[in-house]
Amino acid sequence: MFWLRLVARSTALACLPLAMALYAQLAPAPQSAAILEIQVLKPTAKVSPMLYGLMTEEINYSYDGGLYGELVSNRTLNEASWMGAPHWLIVQKGDSRASMELDKSTGPSVALSKSLKLNVSKADAKSPAGVENDGFWGFPVRARTTYQGSFYAKADNTSVGPVTVSLINNDSGTVAASATVPALTTEWKKYDFVLKTGEIATSSTNHLLLSVQHPGSIWFDLVSLFPPTFHNRKNGNRIDLMEKMVAMKPTFLRLPGGNYLEGDHISERYEWKKTIGSLVDRPTHPSPWKYHSSDGMGLLEFMEWCEDLRVQPVLAVYAGYSMMQEHVNPGADLEPYVQDALDEIEYVTGSANTKWGAVRIKNGHPEPFPLTYVEIGNEDWFDKSNSYDERYAQFYKAIKKQYPQLQLIATTPVKGLTPDVIDDHYYKRAVEFFDDVHHYDKTDRNGPKIFVGEWATREGSPTPNFGSALGDAAWMTGMERNSDVIVMASYAPMLVNVNPGGMQWESDLIGFDTLNSYGSPSYYAQVMFGSHLGTEVVDSKLNGGGPRFFYSVTHDAAKGLLFLKLVNGSSSPQPLEVKLTGATQVTPTVKLVSLSAHTTEETNSISDPVRIVPVHNSIKTAGADFHHVIPAYSIQVLELAVK
Ligand code: AHR
Repeated sequence: MFWLRLVARSTALACLPLAMALYAQLAPAPQSAAILEIQVLKPTAKVSPMLYGLMTEEINYSYDGGLYGELVSNRTLNEASWMGAPHWLIVQKGDSRASMELDKSTGPSVALSKSLKLNVSKADAKSPAGVENDGFWGFPVRARTTYQGSFYAKADNTSVGPVTVSLINNDSGTVAASATVPALTTEWKKYDFVLKTGEIATSSTNHLLLSVQHPGSIWFDLVSLFPPTFHNRKNGNRIDLMEKMVAMKPTFLRLPGGNYLEGDHISERYEWKKTIGSLVDRPTHPSPWKYHSSDGMGLLEFMEWCEDLRVQPVLAVYAGYSMMQEHVNPGADLEPYVQDALDEIEYVTGSANTKWGAVRIKNGHPEPFPLTYVEIGNEDWFDKSNSYDERYAQFYKAIKKQYPQLQLIATTPVKGLTPDVIDDHYYKRAVEFFDDVHHYDKTDRNGPKIFVGEWATREGSPTPNFGSALGDAAWMTGMERNSDVIVMASYAPMLVNVNPGGMQWESDLIGFDTLNSYGSPSYYAQVMFGSHLGTEVVDSKLNGGGPRFFYSVTHDAAKGLLFLKLVNGSSSPQPLEVKLTGATQVTPTVKLVSLSAHTTEETNSISDPVRIVPVHNSIKTAGADFHHVIPAYSIQVLELAVK
């Protein structure tokens, strides 16, 4: 119609027949009709109850500056720059005089042994001096909101007086909220404060100021400010991002990576023991995605994240390989790492009678967490020393001895023993996924199970476009059909901060900035697939149809529901005859969920967040046999009540 309108507008009415002929020439060729025969009550395979889940790691500011609620950037002064302490600046109001420096000689704990020293030589009530933090691309400030803050500090003498903490708008200078912390002592101490906003406009262009009104020296560290969090967890997560995950109906969370688990160097691996307990005892660490990790999102926070989503962790343990081709030799050298993994499993699952279970309880979580799957390493096919066969075997034997019930995932096929599960990763273009939807149809059902632990169609930046959603949906039909052997699957990466410089990896499922977040078309495809899944694959046969038409059928006998997923990756509609056999009753009203776009490039963005979203509808069918047309570039779910 677009062409028709274009031509008709620019030519006289007399040219209409010519315009119509032109349109007919440009209109995409119709697709051959497809006939889909479904034997509703003839299961061919079980659907894995944990098929769809999530994968996470610190990438694209997923945690710091993202999901993890902390608003102060470089809160522990562990980020370094030749210009000083990134994200911190000196503030001299009126005619005050002050300077700041990074002091490596003192800090509030062994783990945090340096601090920000503020030297004030002149200040008074009208001319305060202090330091400011610019946050993660600003501070999100909203009306009538309570922010919980704290910092560690000491002064060289008590005459420095109180510290005023304020959230200030960058553009207007308006103070959105302010609190005063009583006079500091000369010993390191933690100070808590609360900032409450009134009737103000929502904005992200804000900074945090800590100021004093008297001369003296003050050392600051672990300056923290949290907005309200999901489930009001202390040290918790951003609400909008958690809600988006909940909507996907995931069953597990693979953590903590990814490359983030391995680190560039062995010394930069994810060392879980350094991420638990009080924040002041966490030394923080450099991450492979080129920014420093605060480790505020530590092992217990990961577990509580799982608890909040009501999912199981899929716990990846460091297995002696880091990305710059550094590995630990199997045997005696690897033993401490194996022990670390055993301790980690004990921390997650152990009772009060165990050493590490007791530590978890001390850290605030009495109940053990459920755990079925442990992954040994990440992408160990990159290890050119070929040490993974032996490393995996060493971990496998030690873990199985103590925890025979655990399923142990290998990151690549292993010689010498059969892993319980193998983790396969796929990052592809849509056409490649279209061509590969039968990948697992012939997989040996007597071999290891499959975990598709990372996969994504990578078209579109920062988040995938509709072409990607089509590639993803096609691939998911193949995974559903084979979900007797594919026990779990998780898209990666999940999150991206779309602010300038926030992204290290293109095509990420959910985008966010300082204030808002949005789901990509691929995200909505995941929501549709995750929330409409039966317990068994049923027998089906497709005749005809275009080359970019894909489907899957699953049935939930207990609920009496049949889920038909239809993916039309073509630019023309796909006519379909559905023939249901075996069911004695098919309710004529069918729930229809549709996600579609005008082109494969069409997409959602932070400024156009709901351009492409699922549309819920219902259609009437004439019983067990019915005609349906899947529009061009569409992903659809039909939910039929059957008996
Ligand atoms: O998902 C991004 C990265 O891709 C992961 O960290 C790594 O496992 C894979 O190579």
